[in-house]
Order: sequence, then structure tokens, then C-alpha cells
Amino acid sequence: MGELQIGTTQYLELEKLALGAFAPVEGFMNEDAFASVVETMRLPDGTVFPLPIALAVDGDTARRLRGLPRVALVHGGEQVGTLIPDSCFTCDKEAVAQKVFGTVDARHPGVSDFYATGSHMLGGAVQLHRRVLFEFSDYELSPADVQRYVRARGWRRVVGFQTRNVPHRAHEYLQRVALEQADAIFIQPLVGKKKYGDYTPAAIIAGYRTLIDRYYPKGRVIFGILSTYMRYAGPREAVFHAIIRRNYGCSHFIVGRDHAGVGSYYGPYDAHTLLRRFEGELGIAIMPLHGPYHCRVCDGIVTEQTCPHRDTDPAAVTEISGTDMRALLIAGRTPDPRFMRADVVESLQGVPLFIQDAAA
Ligand code: ADX
Repeated sequence: MGELQIGTTQYLELEKLALGAFAPVEGFMNEDAFASVVETMRLPDGTVFPLPIALAVDGDTARRLRGLPRVALVHGGEQVGTLIPDSCFTCDKEAVAQKVFGTVDARHPGVSDFYATGSHMLGGAVQLHRRVLFEFSDYELSPADVQRYVRARGWRRVVGFQTRNVPHRAHEYLQRVALEQADAIFIQPLVGKKKYGDYTPAAIIAGYRTLIDRYYPKGRVIFGILSTYMRYAGPREAVFHAIIRRNYGCSHFIVGRDHAGVGSYYGPYDAHTLLRRFEGELGIAIMPLHGPYHCRVCDGIVTEQTCPHRDTDPAAVTEISGTDMRALLIAGRTPDPRFMRADVVESLQGVPLFIQDAAA
């Protein structure tokens, strides 16, 4: 049996595959699946799946492991899983980046991460021998955990919410829209590898604990983190995020403005358009929501559906931008409480706020 050292990001992917978070994908993709997903956003059998799940290694490692029936996956000096390889392949990274991310620009964080991975991919079924343990593991729920919880309460309508941020008032608005209609909401911040300057898991968890404990109805919010890495692949990643939440037992999934976007690589509602294309095939209903903003005249957080002033009095309107709020906090300033709750900001005191080192 060969041996392959895997980093934290790869270990987390192995774990998600084994727990069914990426179902129906249960192993690292072989060449056929990889090519099919990149080209068509579908697995070879036609099932919608928008992003590759690949185990990249360098050329020397690929040659060393080629032809072996089993490979021990080793992390921190311990075998944490097994790969039964059935494929070893390379790809044209720029061509793949163009399809998956819509750009070949290495300043895009998902593209640069993809370029930095090894030249060869190993595909095959996996076995997980040991769950990942890290500082925030206690906050992670498995798909089976959440499904069981939902079933036990007889809930039929559970809305999934993806985020990578400390909650601001636009997030809160979207979550309250969901709570109006649903039995419960599953707030699942993504805490895998993210880019420099994004929030730390500690900050996101602290912010949500305050929001949920103080402002949300008891017993109707499930909170659990998702430890997979952020691709920043915009619309394709929105489809991926929806599939994951279906696997956790959600009936609905919120997609707001610039979901999983970065910079200006994607249009604010491109994800809505792509999701409409696959609607009916995903096994989860999409709630495409438009951006809440603050309106001085209405004196609160509103949307174009509920407020006329974006057209009639644009000066009254302030967009709620997570990027702006991060910039304020980085500069040591306090965001306007109309946009981020003061006690949410207070809960961040003494907590490391931003990712300084994006090493896997
Ligand atoms: S991300 O995964 O999409 O990058 P983020 O925390 O920025 O996470 O957003 C979480 C969800 O809220 C996404 O569905 C996103 O589209 C939506 N969202 C975030 N900010 C806004 C906003 N100002 N207006 C509308 N939707 C928003």
C-alpha cells in the first residue's frame, strides 16, 4: 500500500465526501467525472454537479503511487483514510479555471489556489478512518446529525443559509424572511480555507452566537459550521452550496446578492440565473432573494420589493456591504449599528477577526 501525506484542506474534503456532504459524489473524481463536471456541470450520469472534487498531487507523487490498489491517506503522522485509486490524470489548468471560475486571472483567490495545487489528480473511492478534529469541531454537524434533528421535530420546511461573514443586517433580513415561512433555518457558515482578510471561524461563531441567542426565536435555528474550503466560484459555487444543504436535509436554500462572489468577477445576480437553469433537478428549492439595503426614509432595512426610494430618492439608500464592514473593522472602527448590530460587534472583542495566513 502506498502512502500519501494530505494537508488539512484535503483531509476536510475526504471527510465531507465520506459523510455524504457532497452526495452523490462519494470519492475524489476520476478523469471522466472531472471533465464532465467542468464542461457541463453534470456528472457523467447527468446529475447536476457544478464543481470538481479533486485530489491534486505533484507529478513525482503521482508516478510513485501509479498502479497501486490502495493508498493510505496520512495526516499529522496518522492514517486518517484510504484511497482506492482508479484514475490519475492532468488537466489544462487555465482551460479549467476559465470554465469553473469564468476567469484565468490569478488574482482571483479560487483560481490562484487552483493553480497552486499539484499538476496531477488522483481519482477514486475513499474510506475515512478518523473524523477531523480542530479547534471548532464541536460546532460542526454532519449531514446525518442535521437530518436526524429535522426528522425528530417533524419539520418539513428548513431553509439553509450559507455564509462566510460575521452577520450584518442584510444577512439578518434574509434569515428573517426565511423564518417567516419556514419551520426552521439552518445557518451554516463555511469555515474551511478562505482568503487572506476574510473572517476567522472564531469571529463568525461569536457574532452568530450573539445574534441567535438574543434575537432569534428559540428552537427554530440550527447552527453548525461547514469545514470545506471557499472556492469563490460565484454562480457555480452557489449551485454547489445548494446541493450540500440538500444533503444536510434542507428543503430550501437562500441565494442572495453575489453569492460566493469575490471582487467583480460575477454579476450580483448571476447565481440566481444559473440556479434557475437547474431548478427542479436539485432536490432543494432555491429562495433567490434580492439585496436588502438601508433606507433613511423608510427608516430600516428594506428591499426593492418593499420600498420605492431606490428610484425616487436614491440619496436615502445605503447598500449594506460586507466588504465595507470588514474594511471598517480592519481599520479598528465600529460599523454603523444600523448595518451591523452593536452587540454583534462587541462580541468580537478579543477574538482574532481576520485570516492572516491562508495556508492549508
Ligand atoms: S458567501 O458564501 O455568499 O460569500 P456571504 O456571507 O457573503 O457568503 O453571504 C451569505 C448569503 O447572503 C449569500 O446568499 C449572499 O448572496 C447573501 N448576501 C450577503 N450580503 C448581501 C447583501 N448585502 N444583499 C443581499 N444578499 C446578501
